[in-house]
Amino acid sequence: MKAYVSSVGFTAVADHWGKSLLDIAYEASTAALKGSPRVKPQQVFVGNMFSAAGAGQEQLGALVADAVGLAGVPAVKVESACASGAAAFNLAYSLVKGGVIDSALVVGVEKMRDVEPDDITRVLTLAESSEYTQFVGASFAALNGMLARHYMEQLDVTRDELSSLPVLDHANAVSAEHAQFRKAITPEAVARSGMVADPLRLFDCSPVGDGAAAAVIVNDKAAGTTKGGLVEVLGGRIATSEFSMYGRDDMLRFRATEDSFREAMQQAGLAQSKLDFLEIHDSFSVMGALSLEAMGLSKRGQGGMDAKQGKFDLNSELSVNTFGGLKARGNPIGATGVYQIAEAYLQLTGRAGANQVKGAEFGATQSVGGIDTTSAVHVFGRAA
Ligand code: COA
Repeated sequence: MKAYVSSVGFTAVADHWGKSLLDIAYEASTAALKGSPRVKPQQVFVGNMFSAAGAGQEQLGALVADAVGLAGVPAVKVESACASGAAAFNLAYSLVKGGVIDSALVVGVEKMRDVEPDDITRVLTLAESSEYTQFVGASFAALNGMLARHYMEQLDVTRDELSSLPVLDHANAVSAEHAQFRKAITPEAVARSGMVADPLRLFDCSPVGDGAAAAVIVNDKAAGTTKGGLVEVLGGRIATSEFSMYGRDDMLRFRATEDSFREAMQQAGLAQSKLDFLEIHDSFSVMGALSLEAMGLSKRGQGGMDAKQGKFDLNSELSVNTFGGLKARGNPIGATGVYQIAEAYLQLTGRAGANQVKGAEFGATQSVGGIDTTSAVHVFGRAA
């Protein structure tokens, strides 16, 4: 059985002060459902990390299903920190591909701005060990700062090299209508921006913002009933690693990304060189560089250098973060993985506008929870 994305929908990533979590989930879901008018999804999966803390709301599966007229179908919330949306998609994909169900609606949603500003850092850190990491008060920015320092010292990576991925993201986001930051930046601006967690500065960090993205996924049986363009899901795997980075033999090795990427590509039967674009999880610049290295797309310590030399520019060897990635499109946690999948859909149906990768046939998405604690990779191909 083959599985396809038959339509997508999303809101802009922004501060949606006037809208609730359900408002934006509804907006993205109904846009996706309109694109597949003859599909009635048999199950709903909602990716989200902290609706309880942010919106005082749980049971998002049933809540969203009811709102979009699907009350009665099985509906669940899936949580895997920043990888929640991609994990939700992976469950839907597995059931649809296996023929257990013929169609599903996947929604990723997060309202980060509804968490009090003083609380957002603490809430994000819920994805780390409560006993060992939260206990000492380390935030994700602090952990990434330590990781970046170690990375730069061990592998002789320069400030300038680390700045290259945020620069690339911001350049791609200028023409991405749904991106949170549509402004180009220079390596000098990254190096001058305010210090967040030494050596990481403001422009090394993905922002806080609200967003929802949705996708309808169908198998061969339901594919004939949709008018939307089809994009085949060629492979998809979730892998996990030792929970916290300090429990690993080598902190600079992202094992969950290595495993999920290798296995998803094997499922797809695709060599790395066939990928035309890749959406990576660069919640912090160091995460982006280490992700590229874990996937074997850059040598160890070379992720930033490769970006600096233009290897990942739009329409170069491998276009990376074609709509701005987490840094500039934005990172509304539980929604982020579904934004990446929606962007892959736009690329492979030729609807990416100014951000179109010319002749794109194959692309992949990598979404991470924690510091590579969970990684979900999906591989997509233009449907024949
Ligand atoms: N990149 C670029 N500009 C940013 C930005 C970012 N990441 N975050 C905020 N800004 C801008 C805002 O637009 C605002 O600009 P303005 O003054 O022109 O309006 C200014 O910086 C201040 O915004 P504010 O929201 O007050 O920033 P902050 O200092 O409270 O937060 C961070 C900045 C980096 C600390 C915050 O975005 C953050 O915590 N990011 C990491 C989120 C995270 O950990 N995600 C999970 C990853 S696992």
